[in-house]
Amino acid sequence: MKNILIIGANSAIAMACARRWALQGPNFFLLARDTQRLQQSADDLRGRGAKQVGTHALDVLDFGQHAQALEAARSALSTIDVVVLAHGTLPDQSACEQDVALAMQEFSANGMSVIALLTRLAPMFEQQGSGCIAVISSVAGDRGRPSNYLYGSAKAAVSTFCEGLRARLYRKGVHVLLIKPGFVATPMTAGLNLPAALTSSPEKVANDICNAVEKRSNTLYTAWFWRYIMLIIRHIPAFVFKKIRL
Ligand SMILES: NC(=O)c1ccc[n+]([C@@H]2O[C@H](COP(=O)([O-])OP(=O)(O)OC[C@H]3O[C@@H](n4cnc5c(N)ncnc54)[C@H](OP(=O)(O)O)[C@@H]3O)[C@@H](O)[C@H]2O)c1
Repeated sequence: MKNILIIGANSAIAMACARRWALQGPNFFLLARDTQRLQQSADDLRGRGAKQVGTHALDVLDFGQHAQALEAARSALSTIDVVVLAHGTLPDQSACEQDVALAMQEFSANGMSVIALLTRLAPMFEQQGSGCIAVISSVAGDRGRPSNYLYGSAKAAVSTFCEGLRARLYRKGVHVLLIKPGFVATPMTAGLNLPAALTSSPEKVANDICNAVEKRSNTLYTAWFWRYIMLIIRHIPAFVFKKIRL
C-alpha cells in the first residue's frame, strides 16, 4: 500500500490503523475537522515512517466541502490504494428523542455524510480500477436497540449501502470492506461503563482492520466474537426482543 486516505483521521481507531501502516512508509492524506489535532496526527505518522502526509480540514456535516476535500486528496495522492471512513459520533439517544434537529444532525454525521462521501469516492475508485474502500460501521447497525437506535439505524444504512456498493464495484477491481466493531475503548465511549471482557483496545481493532484490508475481507466483526453475539441477537424473535431493555 502506497497511498492512504483517512476521513475522520483523528479517530482513535483510524490513528491506530495509520500508525501500523506508517511503518511501511506510505503516503497519507488525512481529513478531519480539528486542524490542530490533525497536525499532531500528521507529525506522529511522519515520525513513524510515513513518507508524505498531507492534511485538509473537513467537517463532514458541511456537505458542500466534500468534493473539494476529496479532490485535494486525489491531487496529493493521485492513486488511492486505501480509503478509511472513520468519523462518527455516539448520540445521546434520549436527547435525540426530544429534538428532531439533533436527531437529524446525528443521523447525518453517522449515516448520510458517509453515504455522500462514498457516492463521490465510488467513481474515483471506478476510474482508477483498483483499491480498497474500508468503512467503519458498527455492530449497532445489526439490530435496533432502545438505548441507541438512532445511531444504530444510521450505521444500518451505511452497512446496507456498503453491501450494494461492494457488488457494484467488484467487477471494476475495487474492494469494499465493511467493518463492524463491538465495544472499543476510545474517546467516543469514554465515560460509558463498558464490560471489560467485551471491550477491545483501538490497537487490537486496528490490527484486525489492517489484516482485513490485506486479505480483502468483505465484512469484519472486531473483536471476532461479535459475529456470534450479533447472530444470536439478530435471531431473537421481535415479540421477545421488544421486552428486553438493551
Ligand atoms: N468506540 C466504539 O466502541 C465503536 C464501536 C463501533 C463503531 N465505532 C465507530 O468507529 C469509528 C471511529 O470511532 P472511534 O471509536 O475511533 O471514536 P473517536 O476517537 O471519538 O473518533 C471519532 C472521530 O469522528 C470525528 N467526527 C465526528 N463528527 C465529525 C464531523 N462532523 N466532521 C469530521 N469528523 C467528525 C471526531 O472528530 P473530533 O475529534 O473533531 O470530534 C473523531 O475524531 C466511528 O465511525 C464509530 O462510530 C466505534
